Amino acid sequence: MATRKIAILTSGGDAPGMNAAIRAAARTGIAKGWEMFGVRNGYAGLVDGQIEPLGARDVGGILQRGGTFLGSARLRDFKDEPVRARGLANLRARGIDGLVVIGGNGSQSGALALSRMGLEVVGVASTIDNDLAGSEITIGVDTALNIALEAIDRLRVTASSHKRAFLVEVMGRNCGYLALMAGIAGGAESVVIPEAEVEPEVIAAGIQSAYDRGKAHALVVVAEGARNNAMRLAEHFEAHRGQLGFDLRVTTLGHVQRGGTPGAFDRLLATRLAAAATDHLERGEHGQLMGWVGGEVRATPLADIVGKPKALDLDLIKLQKVLAQ
Ligand code: F6P
Repeated sequence: MATRKIAILTSGGDAPGMNAAIRAAARTGIAKGWEMFGVRNGYAGLVDGQIEPLGARDVGGILQRGGTFLGSARLRDFKDEPVRARGLANLRARGIDGLVVIGGNGSQSGALALSRMGLEVVGVASTIDNDLAGSEITIGVDTALNIALEAIDRLRVTASSHKRAFLVEVMGRNCGYLALMAGIAGGAESVVIPEAEVEPEVIAAGIQSAYDRGKAHALVVVAEGARNNAMRLAEHFEAHRGQLGFDLRVTTLGHVQRGGTPGAFDRLLATRLAAAATDHLERGEHGQLMGWVGGEVRATPLADIVGKPKALDLDLIKLQKVLAQ
């Protein structure tokens, strides 16, 4: 077994399951006879030289914890070549020749840039937004979705008691995946997502119709990235009072969705993708993203996925409408 030095980094918004990915990358690397390192605080820590050895015991007791014990950050400056060169120099100074980048779109864009500078980099698909091409589902999505669903179920209880409508805003950046899936699984009256924008009048008509049909409540799940997000919809409904039938309340779930305990699905997905990442490094296959496609781990060149749109199955919107009758 050739001795190698490989670092692991988490970047961008934390996602439940990132710790499981760090643990799997570290321990599979150690099992290959490699020296493993952890980079603190994402690309910011890489540039600052916050790089420390990662032993098998250092990644013990983290599997079940949300977030990332290595820390994460968003570093806009990493798109600048001289900044990246500082990060690369910090790795080279320690003899580190490979990097596992656990994160979403921005993180994998940094990974691609480092790979083009000659570093052996493998990405692991991780973001609650599920907006990363090259993986049908990313680490953290399932847990975040379950958190949104639990909140929606609770809101329905109080909404029914008071005969109210609720706008529930969920995260997802510019992607409507979380909102659409939470809307279907949570029995929402309507779903508002960036991929299929609807005007406030249409939402209002849906809520009024639910009221007229004798429903005890109406839940509208709104993606934060929709043009008419929850705040704008609430402003519109306030200015056009009496359009809804129901009294209205607004709940924004926000970062609550990110901080959960990773469920079984996310722990297993993270473990498999990260283990595949070290396998790929061992085979000399790098510049790739480890994703989940067609029920198995699939590697896709980072160049093919960075900045690429990821389609949402819009037939599910039709289904959601049918189910809301
Ligand atoms: O990308 C994950 C995400 O949680 C998005 O859903 C959200 O728009 C964004 O990060 C929030 O970023 P921050 O944690 O920097 O406020």
